[in-house]
Amino acid sequence: MSNSEGKKVVLTCAQPTGRLHLGNYLGAVRNWVDLMEGNECYFGVVDMHAITIPYSPANLRANVYECAAQYMACGLDPEKCNLFLQSSIIGHAELAWILGCICPIGALERMTQYKDKSRKHKDALNSGLLYYPVLMAADILIYDADIVPVGEDQKQHIELTRDIAQKFNNTYSDTFKLPEAVIPKAGARIMSLQDPSSKMSKSDPNQNGTLYITDSPDVLRKKIMSAVTDSESDVRFDPESKPGVSNLMNILEAVSGAGFESIERDFAGKGYGDFKKAVAEALIEKLKPVRERYLELREDKACIESALARGNSAAQRRANRLMSKIYRKVGFLNIEKRQ
Ligand code: TYM
Repeated sequence: MSNSEGKKVVLTCAQPTGRLHLGNYLGAVRNWVDLMEGNECYFGVVDMHAITIPYSPANLRANVYECAAQYMACGLDPEKCNLFLQSSIIGHAELAWILGCICPIGALERMTQYKDKSRKHKDALNSGLLYYPVLMAADILIYDADIVPVGEDQKQHIELTRDIAQKFNNTYSDTFKLPEAVIPKAGARIMSLQDPSSKMSKSDPNQNGTLYITDSPDVLRKKIMSAVTDSESDVRFDPESKPGVSNLMNILEAVSGAGFESIERDFAGKGYGDFKKAVAEALIEKLKPVRERYLELREDKACIESALARGNSAAQRRANRLMSKIYRKVGFLNIEKRQ
């Protein structure tokens, strides 16, 4: 148990790269909502991470509002959790520098996300892309987080965070807790509807493969009805030989709570058309309140700004506590305080 009131500290973040897709929602944000009660939660919009690939500053600014509005539309209540903007908090970049000085380059070169992204951005390969997981480790460790709820793709980064924390503790004496990744049972890895061998992502060149939580019901229906399946006709969970159908089953399980066996039973003898319709309708129903709330919130910049301002103050207070300890341990003088 972690903070002064014995609550666990939960920290997690998403990049403001535009609209949240269904993977972000099922693998991450909707699970954060359940953690708000009984824990001390920090949910970040990590704009500093979003500049590691080519971007436009004007889009980034707009996307921060979009991302915060979508967080709130999904149910993150700024009265019950701290929504913060990474670049507003002093300490993330400073701690990342310190952690970078104990993190071997080889460990960063082994990160799957780095390997994927460096392949995609061959012509614009910058050091930020390699350094990204160190900044992520700083995001987590600066809050002394107990729990980091994420989708499966972030597991490797959290393992690296634990290794870095352990190395810091061994080098400078016990400072950081080793944070635990919490990965949901259903929805931890949602795949593209058009290429079920790669994960659903915003940068998918075929946008029909990516479902956004703010897509209209018509768009959601259209994308799901045209999802890639296979030449058979039975609804059966078999990710190896039926990756498209299995991905849709994953989505239906995560949205409705029905297990794979009961889905298989419900659709025995029926074709893929009926199955896809059921997936689409269940998803549309689930996302209806999220979309309605989002359409209201996106018009209300003041509400988003006040939520972030509140969250930023709380995040900065917590970050300051650990940062002064860290500065002392690594040998940085605090001249100002001594005068
Ligand atoms: P990001 O912005 O790519 O994704 C945000 C969250 O969504 C999850 N996710 C998925 N889950 C299931 N299926 C998918 N297809 C899918 N795609 C994304 C991610 O696992 C994540 O939980 N590096 C992080 C952001 C970050 C962070 C942090 C996370 C920066 N600092 C500190 C936790 C703690 C990222 O790029 O997430």
